[in-house]
Amino acid sequence: MNTASRTIGDTGVTLAPLVLGGNVFGWTADRATSFALLDRALDAGLTTLDTADVYSRWVPGHQGGESETVIGQWLAARGSAARDRVQVMTKVGMDMGAAGQGLSSVHIQRAVEASLERLRTDRIDVYFSHVFDEAVPQAETLAAYDRLIRAGKVRAIGASNFAAGQLRAALDVATAQDLPRYQVLQPHYNLIDRAGFDGPLRDLAQAEGLAVVTYFSLASGFLTGKYRSESDLAGSTRGDWARGYLNPRGFTILAALDAVAARHGAQPGEVALAWLMARPGVSAPIASATRLEQLEGLIRATRLHLSDEDIRTLEQASAPTPTEHRIAMISSTTITTAEPARIILRLCKHWGHRYTVDYDETRGRIELPLGLCLLTAGEGTLDFRLEGTPDADMDKFEQVVADHAQRMARGETYTWQWTRQAG
Ligand SMILES: NC(=O)c1ccc[n+]([C@@H]2O[C@H](COP(=O)([O-])OP(=O)(O)OC[C@H]3O[C@@H](n4cnc5c(N)ncnc54)[C@H](OP(=O)(O)O)[C@@H]3O)[C@@H](O)[C@H]2O)c1
Repeated sequence: MNTASRTIGDTGVTLAPLVLGGNVFGWTADRATSFALLDRALDAGLTTLDTADVYSRWVPGHQGGESETVIGQWLAARGSAARDRVQVMTKVGMDMGAAGQGLSSVHIQRAVEASLERLRTDRIDVYFSHVFDEAVPQAETLAAYDRLIRAGKVRAIGASNFAAGQLRAALDVATAQDLPRYQVLQPHYNLIDRAGFDGPLRDLAQAEGLAVVTYFSLASGFLTGKYRSESDLAGSTRGDWARGYLNPRGFTILAALDAVAARHGAQPGEVALAWLMARPGVSAPIASATRLEQLEGLIRATRLHLSDEDIRTLEQASAPTPTEHRIAMISSTTITTAEPARIILRLCKHWGHRYTVDYDETRGRIELPLGLCLLTAGEGTLDFRLEGTPDADMDKFEQVVADHAQRMARGETYTWQWTRQAG
């Protein structure tokens, strides 16, 4: 049984059973639709909203801040009673262009004021480090958050896209220097993308009592069952992100979702969310909706209780296969790199059937283009964390990764790219 708490320590912040994803506001949901979605969510008790300063900067013509702005307009329109009922989670750290990026004290101080202004509020309920920043000592980041908490501008802090080692180090620094602890974790996790959380990260979050809110809970819509062939992707904003799931493992998982959904008279996406809510260590999934009908599905999901047999069906379809265990063995490889180690490795599985791993030594920031799987490195070490669909080419992939590890161990600097075109 899932016993993860939705109450964040003694902060007084309690999360809703499902967190409403905010990247759609001002992007795939216009202002009027966003207001309608937010009204209905509040009415149904989905009072926790997740956004980020950077949403939706990836859209041509957008600067970032579009989502926070819409949420702020809605909060202002609905008044302080609505604000008091809502928990606002936002994030700092991604590249905001001229407005900066990263987790330095200076950037956090500037970014929080900009977020508060856009959100038209005096406090953020959970403020996330959007992605680990290897260029800034964790003590500096936590000290910046400490000042914000003391000033009443932030109630709790969270970490998103952190590897287990990075989170462990942050918690240790907090204890050693009497700084605030990350109390919420936001990993990429859903029925089909499990490697990023199942394992050391989940164990750590559970042992340390962190609340966990999962993002991409519907795998960009794939787990709703609406993308079952290439032709279903046409015309969809998120179609490209879901393309990589159109493979045997994806179809096996959809079949399991269909079977469980039929038992409950529910939709596949509702089952995928209910599975997350039942997962050990998960406090609440984050999911977005762009239409009211979709939001009703999210609401229904919070009332759906899966039986042991349902869980078994879903586990059988989605549990790591023997090949994935082999990949997991790679993921435990740790090698020492030349200092300073700034490593970004990404395994992209959403551009058609093409896998791309690229390595960028110079940028010093982990960017997470939406829909990409993240491989990341800790300070001075390189941890491979791979997610992928088992296939024959994985042997070759392992070889490439091993070769890369050796070159890194020798301290070589180079650009490396490998692509695979599925048959
Ligand atoms: N921390 C991070 O780095 C990070 C990264 C990404 C996202 N997030 C957070 O997680 C949230 C959720 O991620 P996401 O919105 O990108 O992905 P998601 O929750 O996996 O997918 C949501 C999308 O699926 C579709 N959908 C929802 N209900 C549906 C239904 N009943 N039937 C058919 N389609 C349905 C909608 O897209 P259509 O418009 O295509 O129908 C919706 O926008 C974001 O809003 C954001 O707050 C965090």
